[in-house]
Amino acid sequence: MRIPIIAGNWKMYKTLAEAKAFAESLPTVGDQVEAVICAPSTALAVLSESLQGKNISLGAQNVHWEEEGAYTGEISPLMLKELGVQYVIIGHSERRAYFGETDETVNMRVHAALKHGLSPIICVGEDLEQRESGRTKEVVKVQMEAAMKLISEEQITQVVIAYEPIWAIGTGKTSSAEDAGEVIGFIRQLIADQYDQSYANQVRIQYGGSVKPENIAGFMAERDIDGALVGGASLNPDSFLALVKGAIA
Ligand code: PGA
Repeated sequence: MRIPIIAGNWKMYKTLAEAKAFAESLPTVGDQVEAVICAPSTALAVLSESLQGKNISLGAQNVHWEEEGAYTGEISPLMLKELGVQYVIIGHSERRAYFGETDETVNMRVHAALKHGLSPIICVGEDLEQRESGRTKEVVKVQMEAAMKLISEEQITQVVIAYEPIWAIGTGKTSSAEDAGEVIGFIRQLIADQYDQSYANQVRIQYGGSVKPENIAGFMAERDIDGALVGGASLNPDSFLALVKGAIA
C-alpha cells in the first residue's frame, strides 16, 4: 500500500548543462515506483522543464524555515514551490557534520516544508562509533523525536524518512538488509508511538548508504523498507533507472 520511492541525491554534482542532458536522456517512468531527483538549487529550474512528462518528481537538498529574509546562501520554501519542487532533503548527515545542522533546525525546516506543501525527506542515522557501541536505536530515537516535534497527524503522512547510517554513505559499505530492516522497523514503531499505527503504516521509510542497482533488491525485500536515498549511483542515468526498476516488487 506504500508506493516505493527512489530518490537520487545529487549533492554538489552536475552543472546546468549536465543536469539537462541527464534529464533529457531519461524515458518516462512507470507508476509502480516514485522516482525523485534531488538536485542542486542551480539546476532546479531547468530540471522542472526537462522532467516534464517523465513522471519523475523534483526535489531540493535543503530549505530554510523563513519565507524570506536576510539569510545569505539559503533558499526559501516559497522559492522551491514556485519551481515545482515537491520534495526536500532535510538533515542530511553532511549538513549536520559540515554546516551546523542540528535536530532543532531540522525540525524548523520540516515545519516550513510541510506548511508550503513540500514533502520532507528527513535523514537520520548513526555514526560508526555509535553503531559499534550499540547505540544505533538510541541515536535514531533522539533524531526522530526531535524531527517530528509538533508535526500533526495529517502532516506526518507527507513525510519520508531516510535511514542512513553515516558509515555507509559514500564508502561502498552497506548495512546488511536485515540490520537496515530492523532499524527501519524501529523507526516505524517510533512513529506509531507518537501518532498511531495507522499513520505509521502510511509513512515511507528509505534506506540510504552505498545503494546500487546490484544491492537494491535485497533492501526492497525487507518488509519495512520503502525505497532508497541514493547518492553516487544516482549520478548516472542508466544506474538511476536501474535503481527505479530494481525497486519494483
Ligand atoms: P551514497 O550516498 O549512495 O553515495 O552512499 C547516500 C546519501 O548520502 O544520501
